[in-house]
Amino acid sequence: MTMQLTTDQLLTTTRSVRKRLDLTKPVEREVIEECLAIAQQAPAQSNAQNWHFIVVTDAEKRAAIAELYRKAWDIYVTLPLAAPNLTFDNPAHNAAQIRVTESGQYLADHLHEVPVLVIPCIAGRTNDEPTVIQSAQWGTIAPATWSFMLAARARGLGTCYTSLHLFFEEDAAKILGIPYDEIMQASLIPVAYTIGSDFKTAQREPLANIIHWDTW
Ligand SMILES: Cc1cc2nc3c(=O)[nH]c(=O)nc-3n(C[C@H](O)[C@H](O)[C@H](O)COP(=O)(O)O)c2cc1C
Repeated sequence: MTMQLTTDQLLTTTRSVRKRLDLTKPVEREVIEECLAIAQQAPAQSNAQNWHFIVVTDAEKRAAIAELYRKAWDIYVTLPLAAPNLTFDNPAHNAAQIRVTESGQYLADHLHEVPVLVIPCIAGRTNDEPTVIQSAQWGTIAPATWSFMLAARARGLGTCYTSLHLFFEEDAAKILGIPYDEIMQASLIPVAYTIGSDFKTAQREPLANIIHWDTW
């Protein structure tokens, strides 16, 4: 069952959902499959379509992955690039950083309770590859992942793009039987029905700060 959202509403209100994930409601396998079939319509470099999606529903495996994520979160919050340690000229942006950190902590504390964890993967590691090769790999898996997240939102599901478990990618590969040398995990997407469906457009920097017509 899809929600009645315009294309622009879908694109501007697909938020990083953490605190409003319904941890009590199961997610049907068919809905995940529908969303992944939509994700497969994304572009892929050389049309290789070398993406894979590990859908983790087993409670013990979710707990094991969540444990890695929690360890990673504890490392992340100490880093200069972490949301709580970044400051901006715009006070609204600084306020948003505090909310993101609280919300991120909530996700770290509850990840094992999220009914489905989707791990998008790409065949071929980018270790030490030039930018052009990295771009091809990440540029193939990221649009498909975002399509999955949009399709999920259209079906009343909430998601959040996360990457922190990759601090321990090899451990996650062992838990899930992923052949680490050939397959690179790209992210981890918690998926659950949302508590309410009214999500708003987020605060962003003025467009003029980031748009560059014809020259930098
Ligand atoms: C590449 C990338 C990695 C991210 N990694 C994480 C993560 O590991 N954990 C997390 O809670 N959020 C993560 N996020 C989500 C951002 O923190 C999020 O986009 C930010 O909170 C803004 O929220 P919004 O997307 O609802 O506007 C990531 C987003 C991107 C694009």
